[in-house]
Amino acid sequence: VRTGLFSQPRSLAPKYFYDHKGSHLFDQICETPEYYPTRTEAALLQEYAAAIIEHVQPDHVLEFGSGTSRKTRHLLEAARQSDHSMTYWPFDICSSLLHDVAGRLRSEFPGLEINAQCGDFTAGIEHLEEPGGRCLYLFLGGTIGNFDPIAAEEFINEIAAHMRPGDALLLGADRVKDTGVLHAAYNDEQGLTAEFNLNLLNVLNRELDADFTAEDFRHKAVFNEQDSQIEMYLVAEKQQSVYLGQLDRVLELEQEEAILTEISRKFSRQSIRHLIETSGLVETAHYEPDNGWYSLVLAGKPHLSD
Ligand code: AVJ
Repeated sequence: VRTGLFSQPRSLAPKYFYDHKGSHLFDQICETPEYYPTRTEAALLQEYAAAIIEHVQPDHVLEFGSGTSRKTRHLLEAARQSDHSMTYWPFDICSSLLHDVAGRLRSEFPGLEINAQCGDFTAGIEHLEEPGGRCLYLFLGGTIGNFDPIAAEEFINEIAAHMRPGDALLLGADRVKDTGVLHAAYNDEQGLTAEFNLNLLNVLNRELDADFTAEDFRHKAVFNEQDSQIEMYLVAEKQQSVYLGQLDRVLELEQEEAILTEISRKFSRQSIRHLIETSGLVETAHYEPDNGWYSLVLAGKPHLSD
């Protein structure tokens, strides 16, 4: 937080959105008519889950940023339908959500073993337990878009390095489309995205003994065509000083000064494929809806002889 807030341009890492309240706000965003990525990806998963399970035959499904695990249920259900037994390893930064979700999944899928892990996947995944057996890694929802191009490549490389031959990665990525559609998705009528963005200030107030006043900021989300990314900002409505107790620093903001809180990159079919292939993985299947609004890519780790 210190590095981001006290350098120019000012920024905060999007992982701080996801306290208990923020995780639930994100879940509500997913239900808004404007936010198409969740339902688009869910429809693809519903359609292809059985084929994916059949193809990969995973012993373990590990998911980064599992959230409510709602879309993942399609994979868990497909495995149950085909009598394929596997272990589910949800990994999320929000411990309360993870705990609730694991409990609910255990009653919904009585035979399913669940090993929930709480943590920050941007801090490195090399310490993750290697469960042994074939693994299907999930990185869904378009969260890869939160990384800048270099960090995205590094993260996919890290996953690829963790994978053994026969393992697979299922990656969800949002696609470039009409700017109006993108803009609406990050500026919903109900104001939930604004609330989600502003909640970050409550997180800093609580975790760092800061004294931000949410009413003195407004939500801004714009599509930067040049970099093909949505950029979310918190804009200071007036000149102000904010004290961050744990950092023992005062943040001086000018009126209209903006703090970048999230980038959400939008890909092309080619740029996703490129991301996958530079890490040495091989694209096995590339699923997309008729309108091309979203990509769900299944990638494999080849055997050395392949
Ligand atoms: C969870 C990172 C995929 O980038 O669209 C939703 C987060 N931010 N509305 C996204 C988000 C604003 C979301 N991801």
